[in-house]
Amino acid sequence: MMKLIARPLEYLEDYGQRYGDMFRVGNSRPPVVYVSNPKAIQEIFATSPDCFQTGGGGKVLQLLLGEQSVVLLDGDRHQRQRKLLMPPFHGDRLRAYSQLICDTTQHVTTAQWQTGKPFRVRLTMQEITLRVILKAVFGISEGERYDQLRVLLSSLLDSIGSPLSASLIFFGALQQDWGAWSPWGRFLRLKQRVDRLLLDEIHDRQTSQVVGDDILSLLLSARDEAGQPMTDLELRDELVTLLLAGHETTASALSWALYWVHYLPEIQEKLRSELANLGPQPQPSALARLPYLTAVCQETLRIYPVTLTTGVRVLKAPMAILNYNIEAGTVLFPCTYLLHHRDDLYPDSKQFQPERFLERSFAAHEFIPFGGGHRYCIGAAMAMLEMKLVLATVLLNWQLSLVNPRSIRPVRRGLTVAPPANLQLIAISSLH
Ligand code: HEM
Repeated sequence: MMKLIARPLEYLEDYGQRYGDMFRVGNSRPPVVYVSNPKAIQEIFATSPDCFQTGGGGKVLQLLLGEQSVVLLDGDRHQRQRKLLMPPFHGDRLRAYSQLICDTTQHVTTAQWQTGKPFRVRLTMQEITLRVILKAVFGISEGERYDQLRVLLSSLLDSIGSPLSASLIFFGALQQDWGAWSPWGRFLRLKQRVDRLLLDEIHDRQTSQVVGDDILSLLLSARDEAGQPMTDLELRDELVTLLLAGHETTASALSWALYWVHYLPEIQEKLRSELANLGPQPQPSALARLPYLTAVCQETLRIYPVTLTTGVRVLKAPMAILNYNIEAGTVLFPCTYLLHHRDDLYPDSKQFQPERFLERSFAAHEFIPFGGGHRYCIGAAMAMLEMKLVLATVLLNWQLSLVNPRSIRPVRRGLTVAPPANLQLIAISSLH
């Protein structure tokens, strides 16, 4: 357990090398099984959602997202909430965020970066992605409540973010409220304040009856088959889920992307020449279509996926996968990290090579940074769009360099993994 918390990659690599494609960890009951065989993952993703449950997600996830969060629902309620939440993340609605993403990147980088001064990559990326998701969810970008939410959401994730405080997630015994200064007490109080702000916003919107094209407006006007609106608690849990799932992950992916293009100058050169071919001030839609830029973002998500496994699938009935009979109750983890480092799919898997995504296409069970099947990430298209536009906008406007150009490995950040928090770049010059 300590190794899983402190050195998660080594943990998976050791087991994978020793036991291969599918292995059970320890002797715990119910059994916990990691799966990195592409055929087995294909079977899992294609299996009816009725065969699985989320298993409740654990206490931290329940408290962080709320019990009514789409992440923790099963069955019909899960399908209903997904249907409701998907439209704002697709088609025209998604494209409408493009200018917002480019403008926010310009605004935040200009405010935070000064020529000759080092800065922490993660802080800037987190500020950009948080502003974008807040605007998409609430349609607002200023005001006291918005400012408070911005600060509190970051603090909430930081409270379980460091490799040390992440033990709170894994050891139930540490989840004790010993006051505002204890780690768990701090986490609980921050969550209460976030909940209060969200409920206040929900009430204000319900009374003002102002309808915008933001996600909250959409959820407020949604009705189920019986004509009933979502309850305040359902609304609150979906809002916090989108706000948290929608910015921390993308910020980590963007921090990696910036690391790779500055660690490997030849990659940056190719990317810059692709961007230059578009001429001055390219449209966001043209940027989003660039093949090499897309491949750089895909390779970023392959080599160090933000979540090392997809969400958990708990088997409700026995299931045959490949040649194994897996018993009911088994906790299945399709393992993104080990799948993404299979030599038969990704030769020289430890090398960052965006070209592999231009030379062949990978099936939905071979490249799984956003999971798959009935739980496929709702924000995948938005995250890809955001990665491409932020990375392109940064390169078009800045010349940067790594403060310490060396090979780095991911560290744990809550339930995810990310570049070390102290990863720094320095602005050499501003190009705008
Ligand atoms: C690089 C960024 C992101 C990564 C790597 C990522 C990854 C994932 C993964 C691995 C899952 C679990 C899928 C499974 O178990 O099969 C997931 C689920 C989810 N993601 Fe994302 N995500 C990202 C961005 C976003 C964004 C921008 C949003 C929304 C604003 C979002 C909202 C969700 C939601 C709501 C679910 C739960 C889906 C369900 O249980 O039905 N994610 N994501």
